[in-house]
Amino acid sequence: MSLKDAAHAVRENAHAPYSNFKVGAALRTPSGNVYVGCNVENVAYPEGTCAEAGAIAAMVAAGETELAEVYVVADSPDPVPPCGGCRQKLKEFGTGEVKVTMGTVEGLERETTIGDLLPGAFDADHMVRS
Ligand code: THU
Repeated sequence: MSLKDAAHAVRENAHAPYSNFKVGAALRTPSGNVYVGCNVENVAYPEGTCAEAGAIAAMVAAGETELAEVYVVADSPDPVPPCGGCRQKLKEFGTGEVKVTMGTVEGLERETTIGDLLPGAFDADHMVRS
């Protein structure tokens, strides 16, 4: 199954009764495995989690820690970019060159990269004094 199809399919399972905004995410690792996630909202609103976070958690739980490609889809007029927190989460596991495709349910797509989504990212080097 393509990343696009996987993201569209998992989006249907999103638990989004508060925003009514379902999001699906699918990612591929260098091994070729695909992991998916959807947003899971909570009546205590800050406890909700994003689709990207779910897909990353599934990848890590399966023993993988490297992103090769990411696809995110939502039912929006324009492709929805990952939130700030998810950009940092993506950066944790992917290089700046990793492609992120943002799609709409209707089929509009926009491509970007983790590096373009999070320029000047905080990383472990920032904690080291030379
Ligand atoms: N959401 C995601 O799952 N991923 C994004 O990239 C943007 C926002 C979710 C969080 C919340 O459940 C809903 O969309 C509305 O913000």
